Amino acid sequence: TDRYCVFGNPIKHSKSPLIHGEFASQTHQAMSYTAELAPVEGFADAWRAFIADGGRGANVTVPFKGDAFALCDTLSHRAKRAQAVNTLIVGGNGRTYGDTTDGIGLVRDLAYHRVPLAGKRVLVIGAGGAVRGVLEPLLAEQPSEVVIVNRTAEKAEQLAQAFADLGNIQGGGLASIDGQFDLVINGTSASLSGELPPLPETLFAKGAWAYDMMYGSEPTVFLQWAGPRGAKLLDGLGMLVEQAAESFFLWRNVRPETASVRTLLRQSLN
Ligand code: ATR
Repeated sequence: TDRYCVFGNPIKHSKSPLIHGEFASQTHQAMSYTAELAPVEGFADAWRAFIADGGRGANVTVPFKGDAFALCDTLSHRAKRAQAVNTLIVGGNGRTYGDTTDGIGLVRDLAYHRVPLAGKRVLVIGAGGAVRGVLEPLLAEQPSEVVIVNRTAEKAEQLAQAFADLGNIQGGGLASIDGQFDLVINGTSASLSGELPPLPETLFAKGAWAYDMMYGSEPTVFLQWAGPRGAKLLDGLGMLVEQAAESFFLWRNVRPETASVRTLLRQSLN
């Protein structure tokens, strides 16, 4: 049986073992997938011990995506751009290959819900690691414009500059938001504390979507704000399932089906 896991700190409440357990039984893969707590200062040692113990691959979550990026022998193009790794794969000679599937997870989830991106105006709120990780796959869908806004304007400006070769992308402060958007993605960690950055009332174009990269048993504060303002709502549960499906594919070369796992995961939140 091939071993896989997710590393994080904390890790107890991770949904990844549930998701990958379902993928494995659905596709008849002989594998195990566990949640592993790594010490904050000891990620590389934990990964090496896991390989020595027969580990074949892992997901990596908070706070280790940067540590994982740093230890890889080889990196995918999209991981280099994101400067983060959420998927580790043990290759030949025990070498470690790193990739990130968060961005493709977001784009696949949007496609699943038939949210159009090509030619659309997209606003991204936040400029941290979570946003950096999704920009390349998002720009590849050829929206007419991506605007990144952040409480700290400078970080949004820097991020926009770093991805400017991939499409029409602008960065600025929250006060610089101008006009209407077809899709507004909340990528800040503000929803964790139940906070909402100040946003203009007239943000949403007709038929627009509001997407929160977070999810929970209740709608996030951002989605609670967006609903009455006319947007169609999506939370980050589907993104979690789709990034997992892409990691699973990288490890096993089999594409799991995600619809049933979405339902199962939604039920597990109550
Ligand atoms: P992550 O890995 O989740 O992206 P991060 O890199 O720490 O975490 O980034 C957190 C993001 O949420 C940042 O864009 C942050 O804004 P700042 O760059 O100005 O700090 C944003 N954020 C966190 N709390 C917020 C709040 N209460 N209001 C607005 N933005 C907030």
